[in-house]
Formats: sequence, structure tokens, C-alpha cells
Amino acid sequence: MGSRLVTVFGGSGFVGRYIVRRLAASGARVRVAVRDIETAYFLKTCGDLGQISLMPTSIGSDSEVARAINGADWVVNTVGILEERGERTFTAVHVEGAARIARAAAQAGASRFVHVSALGADVGAASSYAQSKAEGESEVMTAFPTATIIRPSVIFGPEDGFFNVFANMARIISVLPYFSHIVPHAEGGGGTKFQPVYVGDVAEAAVAALSDNAHSSKIYEVGGPVVLDMRSVLEVVNRHTDRNTWICGLPFWVGRTMASFSFFWRKFAYFFAVLRLYLPRPLVTLDQMKLLETDNVLDGSKPGFTELGIEATTVESIVPTYLRRFRPYQQQKKLRLNAR
Ligand SMILES: NC(=O)c1ccc[n+]([C@@H]2O[C@H](COP(=O)([O-])OP(=O)(O)OC[C@H]3O[C@@H](n4cnc5c(N)ncnc54)[C@H](OP(=O)(O)O)[C@@H]3O)[C@@H](O)[C@H]2O)c1
Repeated sequence: MGSRLVTVFGGSGFVGRYIVRRLAASGARVRVAVRDIETAYFLKTCGDLGQISLMPTSIGSDSEVARAINGADWVVNTVGILEERGERTFTAVHVEGAARIARAAAQAGASRFVHVSALGADVGAASSYAQSKAEGESEVMTAFPTATIIRPSVIFGPEDGFFNVFANMARIISVLPYFSHIVPHAEGGGGTKFQPVYVGDVAEAAVAALSDNAHSSKIYEVGGPVVLDMRSVLEVVNRHTDRNTWICGLPFWVGRTMASFSFFWRKFAYFFAVLRLYLPRPLVTLDQMKLLETDNVLDGSKPGFTELGIEATTVESIVPTYLRRFRPYQQQKKLRLNAR
């Protein structure tokens, strides 16, 4: 890959940092475009002196995006949000931001563009997140027709917001809830199905897509080797944190009610600033509940890891390494003593 210059938008994020590391390891020069460069300082140590540069960039500004891309051979966009806040709407980030980056990449003459979208991206989806991801994809393809789009299922890895969240919950409360359309314990009552994919494999897919023109103008859907329903995900959490937390299936209407209550409570609190100090972030928003009501698994209609030459990593080979820290104190102490 030599001294190619690659600009990575969202390089400080969970997926972005793995892409930056993987590119740096291949010898590329990497420019990380982020809102706040302080959040990306840790990336400087992933490369040799001067190999990784950080550039403060607002994806809402044409000139800043153009400056971040200036001279880049390849561009990657991993910017995304799961929850809207103020001006950070799905449209602003997933549609307008992605379109601005793709337009600037085309104008600057970048030869490859990889855009990280999400499995389930669909203009007809119930969730605004999934709709905006689909609109963003089509904006990207219009502006940069040879772009490659990668749609991952839920992503796991040491910094994930999936297994870590449930493991942390199990530390605090003695029940792990999940939502299901079918009565729990009945056949198919394990809740939403996912195909968790390792973050290192997603980064590998992005770099493989950049490196070969054969991947131009294609959409890749990537998922791990195993499909897990929510109950199985929580069982993995219990197993690797050495806990026996009660796993409880609830109907979706309970989740929707909880999410609505949290939504109205936050709106109410908006007018009473002091209340916000005591409000935890909602565990799940209404839009995320809509997302959860649909399975997130590959249907085989699009190319994936096989076509990118990647063998997917299993949950069991990675998750135990980072869920260990959520074990009860006594277990951790025992592990430390045994290691001496
Ligand atoms: N994680 C998953 O399970 C998963 C699954 C499917 C698809 N995806 C997609 O994969 C991509 C990466 O996800 P991730 O898990 O790495 O998310 P993440 O950890 O939240 O990282 C998102 C990155 O986007 C940046 N960003 C967010 N809003 C921005 C804005 N308005 N302007 C500029 N930068 C902004 C963040 O920078 P700041 O730190 O400055 O906010 C961060 O660098 C996203 O597009 C996501 O939708 C993720």
C-alpha cells in the first residue's frame, strides 16, 4: 500500500480506529478527520512518527471536508450515530454528511471510496436510522459511482456497545431483559436475531474493498459465522462473566412503553435543566426499538466476506477476552491468584 494517503472520517470511533490501525500497519499514511482531535490523540501511537495525522473537520462544512480530503488517494467514511441529538439528526449525519464527503472525494479525484453503512438499510424500514442509512447509500453512489458500501450486522469487539452493555447491566441489576414477538421459551421466542461480526473483520473488509478495483460499485453485507438470538447473546454474557443473571423475555410493547416514557420524560426534563443532571441516558430509544423488531441477519442476496477473501472470526474466540473484566470481584481475585 506504500505511502498512499487515506482520509478516514470517524476514525476515532469504534470501527474507525480499527480501520486506521489496519491501514497504518499496511504502511499507508492516514489522515483522521474528526470533530474534536483530542478524542483521536490515542491513534497517533498506531503508526510511525508522522504516519497518522489528525485534522479537525465538521462534516457539515464543504470547505472543511474538502480540506480533509485534499491530496487523498482513498477515502473511508465511518461516521454514524445511533441516536439523534439536537442538530445531529440522522439526515444531517447519514445522508447530508455522507453525500458531502462522497462529493468532495469525487471532486478531489480520490480513486477509491468506502462507505460504512448498516445491515438492514432500507428506505422502507420502520426505523429512521435504517431509512437514513439507505438514503445515505444512494447519495454516496450518485456522487461517487465506484464507491463500495459495507453493511455490517451488529459489531463486537473490546470497545463494543453490545456485549459490553449487557455485561455492565448484569453487574448492576439481577435481570437481563430482552424483547420478543413470540412468548419467551416457546420455539422462536429468543427475540431478535443477529449475526455479530468482529470489528477487526469489518476493518479488514474496508481495507480489502479499498485495495481492489474489483470491489467498485458494490454493496457487501457482512456478518459473523453464527446467528444468535437475543437470549443466546445474553447467555454468552452470563457464561463469560461467570454470572447467573436471570434472562427475562418481555413482549415488545413493554419495550415500546419504556422507550416512550423515557422519551417524554427527557422532553419534560428539557425545560427543567436540573432534572437532566439526574437522568441516565435511555438504554433504548423508540427508534432503536423499531430497529430491534426486525432480525439483523444476512439473506445471502449480496456478496460478503467470502468475496472479500475474509474468514469471519467467531464470538467465542474474542468475547471472553474482554468480558472477563465484568466477572464478580471474587472470581477476578481467584484468576489473579491462579496466574501468579
Ligand atoms: N457498532 C455497530 O454495531 C454497527 C453496526 C452496523 C453499522 N454500524 C455503522 O458503522 C459506522 C461506525 O460505527 P461505530 O460503532 O464505530 O460508531 P462510533 O463508535 O459511535 O463512531 C462514530 C464516529 O463518527 C463520528 N461522528 C458522529 N457524529 C459525527 C458528526 N456529526 N460529525 C463528525 N463526526 C461524527 C464520531 O466522532 P465523535 O467521537 O466526535 O462523535 C466517531 O468517530 C457507523 O456508520 C454505524 O452506523 C455500526
